[in-house]
Amino acid sequence: MESLVEKGLTKSIGLSNCNSKQIQRIYDNAKIKPTVLQVECHAYFPQHELHEFCKKLNIAFTAYSPLGCPGFPEFALKDWGVKDLEKPKVLEDKILKEISKKYDKSPAQILLRYLIQRGIAVIPKSSNPKRIKENIQIFDFSLENEDMNQMKSMSCGQRYITMTYWKGCEDHPEYPFKEPF
Ligand SMILES: NC(=O)c1ccc[n+]([C@@H]2O[C@H](COP(=O)([O-])OP(=O)(O)OC[C@H]3O[C@@H](n4cnc5c(N)ncnc54)[C@H](OP(=O)(O)O)[C@@H]3O)[C@@H](O)[C@H]2O)c1
Repeated sequence: MESLVEKGLTKSIGLSNCNSKQIQRIYDNAKIKPTVLQVECHAYFPQHELHEFCKKLNIAFTAYSPLGCPGFPEFALKDWGVKDLEKPKVLEDKILKEISKKYDKSPAQILLRYLIQRGIAVIPKSSNPKRIKENIQIFDFSLENEDMNQMKSMSCGQRYITMTYWKGCEDHPEYPFKEPF
């Protein structure tokens, strides 16, 4: 990746799905430091420690599955034959719905705004033009401190993308999700 930067084929190097130990190891060994990390992050899995860790290394933080990946069970069931994916859905959370009513914004907009307000970049995915527009319209309001705290209280350690549906994945020495962060 560093040689690609040197050749001008890429501007920056990003990491994804690394834990703090892995990031530190890469950072310490890199001639050209990584500039961004992409990991799962949403109100049920807010990644406060990893976000703080990245700030110290000046690594920008990007939240994937910021809506809790609500479409995941369907495609995993269909394409990979995965079973047992029933997990509480962050988009249907009771606290979130109340805040959504208060601001007259959709639950998805509140989830995205919460992350943006924490200084985190978001990459929601939608194949629906109406929802794509909705997901961009999050810059005309801001959440009050008490609502940011309410959102913070939703944290419950619910990771949706564990990769464990790939057989043997967890046994790999670099499986990233066994560390606290
Ligand atoms: N680096 C990695 O390992 C990694 C892992 C996972 C994902 N990602 C990336 O992260 C991005 C998004 O993640 P994701 O697709 O997993 O999760 P997500 O953005 O949290 O959820 C996408 C799902 O939410 C629905 N949706 C979108 N906008 C909505 C809205 N306003 N209201 C209700 N539902 C809405 C979409 O359905 P419709 O399409 O029907 O709107 C789709 O099923 C993708 O670009 C993906 O490639 C990266």
